Amino acid sequence: MAKTMDEIVAHCKNTGFIFAGSEIYGGLANSWDYGPLGVELKNNIKKLWWEKFVQRRENSYGIDCAILMNPRVWEASGHVASFSDPLVDCKECKARFRADNLISDFSKGEVNADLLTKEEMSDYLEKNHVPCPICKKSNFTPIREFNLLFQTHRGVTKESGLDIYLRPETAQGEYVNFLNVQRTMRAKLPFGIGQIGKAFRNEITPGNFTFRQIEFEQMEYQWLCHEGQDEKYYEEFKKASKEFFLSMGIPEDKLRYHDHDKLAFYAKAACDLQYKFPFGWDEVNGIHNRTNYDLTRHQEFSGKSMEYLDPVTNEKFIPYIIENSYGLDRAILAVICNSYESEELKNGEVREVMHIIPKLAPFKVAVLPLVKKDLSDKAHEIFENLSKDFRVAYDETGSIGKRYRRQDQIGTPLCVTIDYETLETQTVTIRDRDSMKQDRIKISELKDYINNIINK
Ligand code: GAP
Repeated sequence: MAKTMDEIVAHCKNTGFIFAGSEIYGGLANSWDYGPLGVELKNNIKKLWWEKFVQRRENSYGIDCAILMNPRVWEASGHVASFSDPLVDCKECKARFRADNLISDFSKGEVNADLLTKEEMSDYLEKNHVPCPICKKSNFTPIREFNLLFQTHRGVTKESGLDIYLRPETAQGEYVNFLNVQRTMRAKLPFGIGQIGKAFRNEITPGNFTFRQIEFEQMEYQWLCHEGQDEKYYEEFKKASKEFFLSMGIPEDKLRYHDHDKLAFYAKAACDLQYKFPFGWDEVNGIHNRTNYDLTRHQEFSGKSMEYLDPVTNEKFIPYIIENSYGLDRAILAVICNSYESEELKNGEVREVMHIIPKLAPFKVAVLPLVKKDLSDKAHEIFENLSKDFRVAYDETGSIGKRYRRQDQIGTPLCVTIDYETLETQTVTIRDRDSMKQDRIKISELKDYINNIINK
């Protein structure tokens, strides 16, 4: 049985996946901390993404850029002028909302608020008496545009320094470095640049757990190509985004594309991949045909040429970019929502289990001595050997049944039990999380056995 959002949040908190940010001080809205299990899951997803996009694609390169960039970058990118949400406040209960979300929710998705101007959104709220989701009255302030950039200050005093921004996306670091990568890697078009890193947005509307945060991580991939090949690659990256989510164990019927009706004026095509969260379908990835807009703007604002010299034709031009942007935290949330459930067993018992695919599971295997007193030395020895290759849990407290359940609850695919026979025959039992079947195998075969399960 699938879990509700409240149950998922409680599970993440109680088992060590995700904690509320600065919790002992009452938290900070829309900020979250990853715990010991969450950080393992996060690293595993990053690794899977890096392998798919950077490692396994020919002509593909990774970078890691500074979070703080020259503020002119954000003028060129358009974020300073127009990276904003249309906000309204409820005059009755003072709660704050995004007008476009109020309209989409009220119309149950029938009205695409992306296509409405600010005035049209105001009209819609008024004429339809759209109620405040909190106090149910319909009395909103006029809509105003709220810029999402986080600003900070560099320098000794406010007066002598420079106003700078925390980056709201990682993409611009890839754009401003495109010629550095091209030159040093001697790359020819088409080629790709990937980056994983933090991004910051001053999101002030409620966030559905980690779905909308003020500080989050993106995995962004920019594919630089000739104009004329851009449409073909756009379709290719649309497919790649779905493949990536399928490879994390997300079933196809919980994924769908959402083509944008309203495009940024420079964009040729844009699409989201959406996942069916317990709170509804929502975006986990964006695919954009950004044309040569970003690089052209950087050329204009920096005064430096952003042209590529084609070694075959000797032509100079600014390449087109197909962007494939993943929210790492949303990928994590999708994996957690998809895998955590209550499962009724044949004997009528119910167990809590996370069916995370073994490759992504925080712990690959748990080492469990049946009896602490006589068997823990051998169990520690096995733990030490396995932990050279895998992330391994060790647990010697409580009944073996309870220990199995604890590992099921956090998604550990395999449990190795050390019993008295282990001391005599150098064998252990190994239990599979999903089938709950047990095999008896030699200790010397453990590493291959685990590798087979992880790489299945
Ligand atoms: N460079 C393009 C770009 O940043 P975006 O659609 O604004 O495009 C890309 O963001 C992805 O980043 C989204 O699909 C989403 O997964 C993630 N994302 C955006 N805002 C977020 C937030 N406030 N919290 C968590 N993830 C977010």
